[in-house]
Amino acid sequence: MADPKVPLALALDRAAPTALTEQIAAGLRSAIEQGRLAPGARLPSWRDLASQLGVARGTVRAAYETLIDAGLVQALGAAGTHVARRVPVRPQDDLPATAAPSPLPGLVRGNGVFQMGVPAQDGIPAKLWSRLFVRAARTAAGAAPDYPDPRGEPALRTQIAAMLAVARGLACSPAQVYVTGGHAASVALAVRALGLAGQAWTEEPGYPLTRKLLATLGLDTVAVPVDAQGLDVAAGQALAPQAALAVVTPGQQAPLGVALALARRRALLDWAVRQQAWVLEDDYLGELQLQGRAAPALGADVGAARVLHVGTFSKTISPALRLGFLVVPADQVARFDAATALHGSAPAPLVQQAVAELLRGGHHLRHLRRMKRLYQQRRDALLACLRAAGITHRAAGLAVLLQLPPGRADVALVRAARALGLSPAPLSPWYARPAPEHNGLLLGVTNLRVEEAAAHWARLQSLIDADL
Ligand SMILES: Cc1ncc(COP(=O)(O)O)c(C=O)c1O
Repeated sequence: MADPKVPLALALDRAAPTALTEQIAAGLRSAIEQGRLAPGARLPSWRDLASQLGVARGTVRAAYETLIDAGLVQALGAAGTHVARRVPVRPQDDLPATAAPSPLPGLVRGNGVFQMGVPAQDGIPAKLWSRLFVRAARTAAGAAPDYPDPRGEPALRTQIAAMLAVARGLACSPAQVYVTGGHAASVALAVRALGLAGQAWTEEPGYPLTRKLLATLGLDTVAVPVDAQGLDVAAGQALAPQAALAVVTPGQQAPLGVALALARRRALLDWAVRQQAWVLEDDYLGELQLQGRAAPALGADVGAARVLHVGTFSKTISPALRLGFLVVPADQVARFDAATALHGSAPAPLVQQAVAELLRGGHHLRHLRRMKRLYQQRRDALLACLRAAGITHRAAGLAVLLQLPPGRADVALVRAARALGLSPAPLSPWYARPAPEHNGLLLGVTNLRVEEAAAHWARLQSLIDADL
């Protein structure tokens, strides 16, 4: 019978006529040939694998020796036993090992010039971060192997509450802060904890992943138009007055970049209180307003009793951390505490501890200040190119939005651009109901070096022109 603890899927059949040594060797051989065990990968020690499989050590040792003789693995003395570097890998027929592309939509993939939504690679204070991570890893390695608090590490919750007070004008206690695996995990936690059902307003245009997620969670999404003042609250009230939830990006609307006007903020909060609906504030760029002072978080308003505040470290540190947070009103803490036991998604404590240290030492605010300056310079360089080219555009968060002439297919243009190493994002997928006038390109500026901006823009422009 297969032992469920064995990660290599070595299914041992003790009743079979084949010797256990041969079964182990055959299982490892197929894992190596199919690429599930990569060239150079270290195999478990005889002792570990024997204990995992419940067989004698000599049985595993004999299996390893068979594979060594076949040239599939190498014994490197004290460095252990490794899969040979050169193994002819036979592709598996049914499932590719790891070759399939990430299931994330193309919108958030593509790592060429103008990629949106990722911080500057050359802005990372790599030495500092690696020091903090190494320290956190050392502490984690010595810690008891226990289940962490699903609400997040207390140290990080405390630091996030302090950061929000300073950077977003949001006064909350650490008990109201839930650490999550990012935006989608925060939204899902909120929907589940509050048992939301029925209609949910989403911005039109708005972040497509949120729309899809809400639908998956059983909510009926209603696209509410966004204009120069942000979400059109009156339109929302006309379309779905009884909605249970409104998801908004009030600080810098995604993807248009406009701020929610004061009167609209009030109207939205009033509606939520009247309807006993919830407003989920997606503050994904809250700490990264490039021009002027960011308006305080919606959750900071007097009368924000119905606001759930969602933030992320994806734009300020790295999306690779998978680290976000959710702040809930004090009277909802008991519900959310209970919900995290099932739906908590905080990443490993060592990641949280390292980030807590980053926040505590004041490194984070310093990093943000530097990044804002860098992004401003990069955005200005691109804006200068667009002005010189006479192209209609608008700055939108950490991107610049170009409107394409009606009928010009942005998705096709983006596909062609990818082939040239350029990764602008198409605007039309941000609409629940795309129309010909919704074709546009979003050009991320975070990784656009000032001295290279003109050349990259020229390449993109010739592609746009060629397509006319
Ligand atoms: C509108 C919006 N919200 C939230 C996020 C952040 O999501 P996450 O925290 O999962 O990285 C993004 C990232 O692109 C976004 O565009």
